[in-house]
Amino acid sequence: QAQDNVFKIGLILPMTGQQASTGRQIEAAAKLYMAQNGDTVAGKKIQLIVKDDTATPDVTKRLAQELIVNDKVNVIAGFGVTPAALAAAPLATQSKTPQVVMAAATSSITEASPYIVRTSFTLPQVSVAMGDWAPKNGIKSVVTLVSDYGPGNDAEKYFSERFALNGGKVIEKLRVPLRNPDFAPFLQKVRDAKPDALFVFVPSGAGSAVMKQFLERGMDKAGIKLIGTGDVTDDDQLNDMGDGALGVVTTHHYSAAHPSAANKKFVEAFMKANKGMRPNFMAVGGYDGMRVIYEALKQTKGQGGGDALLAAMKGQIFESPRGEVLIDAQTRDIVQDVYLRKVEKKDGQLYNVEFDVLKAVKDPGKAK
Ligand code: DHB
Repeated sequence: QAQDNVFKIGLILPMTGQQASTGRQIEAAAKLYMAQNGDTVAGKKIQLIVKDDTATPDVTKRLAQELIVNDKVNVIAGFGVTPAALAAAPLATQSKTPQVVMAAATSSITEASPYIVRTSFTLPQVSVAMGDWAPKNGIKSVVTLVSDYGPGNDAEKYFSERFALNGGKVIEKLRVPLRNPDFAPFLQKVRDAKPDALFVFVPSGAGSAVMKQFLERGMDKAGIKLIGTGDVTDDDQLNDMGDGALGVVTTHHYSAAHPSAANKKFVEAFMKANKGMRPNFMAVGGYDGMRVIYEALKQTKGQGGGDALLAAMKGQIFESPRGEVLIDAQTRDIVQDVYLRKVEKKDGQLYNVEFDVLKAVKDPGKAK
C-alpha cells in the first residue's frame, strides 16, 4: 500500500570508469533539484535510485530490466553515453516506461523508442553552428578528430558538410577509439597536414587530455587553431587546463558562465552543495531532466502511468540555466539556443564566455 505513494526514478549513470565525471555531475544535479523542489510531488514521495552502469551497455540493459521489473520504477533516466541509452530503449518500449536521456547526444537516440525524451542536446545541433562560424573567421581548411562512435560520427558529418557548403576544405577526417584513446599519433598527423584549424569532438572527461597533448606538440605555435563542440572545453575540467586553453572557440548549449539570473542561481547553489565543483552541461541535462519528470507528475496529478507521463513531458517549455528550452512534442528532443563561446579568464578562472547565439535550434538530424 505504501508503495502507491512512492514515485520511483531509476537513475542509471556511469559512476565509475572513464565516464565517471558525467555520473558525478548528473547525480549531484538531480539531488540539487530535489533539495530545491522538495521530495513530494502530487502526493507522491519521490525516490531516486542511482545505479552505476560504468557506461557499459550490457550492464545498462541489466540494470534497466531490474529497475523496471523488480523495483517497478515509474521512469528510467540518466544514460551517460549513447550505447547505454540505446541498450535501454527496447525495455522502455516494452514496458511503456518513459526514458529520460540526460546526457547521451547522438541524434538518432530519440528514434530508438517512442518512450524516450531528451534533455541534453544533439551533436548535429551544436556542430552545424561551428560549420558556419569557422569559414567566416579565417578558417579555410580543417582536419576533424572525433571519438569513433555515434556522437563523434554525428559531429564529423554535420560539421564537415556545413563547413564544405560554406567553402571550407576538410583535409582529413580522423577517428580515435572511445576506450583509452591515445591522441598523440593523430595529433602528429594533424601537424603534418597543417590545417588552419583542428575540429574536435571527444566526450565529456576527455577534453583535458586533448588540450594537453595539443599544447605539448606546439600545435598552437605552429598556427593550428583548436575548435570544436563545447565537450572539449567541458566546464568540469576547463579551469584546470591552464592558459593554453585561452581563445579556444567552441559551440555548445551550456556554459557555466551563461549570464542569466537563473544560471547564476543554479551555479551558486550547485557549487555550494558540491564542495566548489563547477556544474557542466551534463549537470544541466540532469537538472532539467528532473524538472521534466516533476512537471509531468504534477500535470498528471500523480495518477498517470507511463503513457500519461510521457504525454505530459512532450511540449514542456521552460527556462533552464542554459536559456529557454522546449521538449519538441513531435520528436521528443530538446530545442534550445546554441552559443558561440571563447575561453577567457574572469576573476582568475577559465570560462567559456558566450559571444553569439543561435536561437531555438532544432536537431538538424531530424529534419528529413
Ligand atoms: C556523449 C557522451 C558525452 O560525454 C558527450 O559529451 C557527448 C555525447 C554520448 O555518448 O552520446
